[in-house]
Amino acid sequence: SIPGYVKIVEVGPRDGLQNEKQIVPTSVKVELIKMLVSSGLPVVEATSFVSPKWVPQLADAKDVMEAIRHVESARFPVLTPNLKGFEAAVAAGAKEVAIFASASESFSKSNINCTIEDSLIRYRDVVLAASKLSIPVRGYISCVVGCPVEGAVPPTKVAYVARELYDMGCSEISLGDTIGVGTLGTVIPMLEAVMGVVCVDKLAVHFHDTYGQALSNILASLQMGISTADSSVSGLGGCPYAVGASGNVATEDVVYMLNGLGVRTNVDLGKLMLAGDFISKNLGRPSGSKTAVALSKL
Ligand code: HMG
Ligand code: MG
Repeated sequence: SIPGYVKIVEVGPRDGLQNEKQIVPTSVKVELIKMLVSSGLPVVEATSFVSPKWVPQLADAKDVMEAIRHVESARFPVLTPNLKGFEAAVAAGAKEVAIFASASESFSKSNINCTIEDSLIRYRDVVLAASKLSIPVRGYISCVVGCPVEGAVPPTKVAYVARELYDMGCSEISLGDTIGVGTLGTVIPMLEAVMGVVCVDKLAVHFHDTYGQALSNILASLQMGISTADSSVSGLGGCPYAVGASGNVATEDVVYMLNGLGVRTNVDLGKLMLAGDFISKNLGRPSGSKTAVALSKL
């Protein structure tokens, strides 16, 4: 059986845009976020308070946050790699944050310039500061099945990092197949290992669609009891530190699948497609959502 309601965490404005070479104007980002909210999405990851040297596209994090902080009816978590980012996020009005660890040592180094252990020490400080302000912290784990440098990542390693993030107080753990290499053959054993240490209702899945496996991986995750899935409008995205990674699974495709299964999301597919169309036109490229392409031909 699968859950009757699935919470979709829209990551397009953050994961989707972070890799775009051309700087997207702040006003376009803000409009995109507002359109995503009006489609009914409950959570829209808005931006990252990371080093602008590392991710130039999101250097306007403060301005984006200030423009949306008073928008009701959706939650706007932001990525914070350290206390400096956390403090800037809170000052800009963030009420939820996310930290991002890795299950692969090489990826940790290339993404946040430190070892997994050092990142966990850093993140404990962020979670502590957040708990004092009653700010929920989502914990991401990257490379949960494969790493661009190390190849296959053992499920025990993912379970270890998940346990650490859970024990330090993360309210939700999102399992990221950063480079989209996972199949049911690798994803199911990984989920089984993580479910052995973290309660299933605290888990989310975050699939990139590089090899076209994202929807089947989501379906299997739902069948295993997970009810939160991350996705990106129009399949925007990639990762600046994961060469060859394509976008996240497209939100339109996830909503289409869930509608077909009779699973509630509260997302209006037509309104979501307007948001996808808006950002695709601004980026000057066709939508990466098969559903959006098919429905727009009708
Ligand atoms: P570093 O160079 O080791 O750190 O970077 P540093 O402390 O030496 O700082 C370097 C400079 O950045 C300094 O400025 C700091 O002040 C500044 P300078 O003195 O040179 O002028 N700085 C900051 N500025 C703004 N906000 C901050 C901040 N921190 C330091 N928070 C650091 C370490 C973690 C900062 C860097 O590596 C970084 O920002 N990395 C972020 C990379 C990133 O955003 N990657 C993409 C997100 S993860 C992802 O996409 C995967 C996910 O989607 C899941 C999946 O797909 O699997 C989540
Ligand atoms: Mg990602």
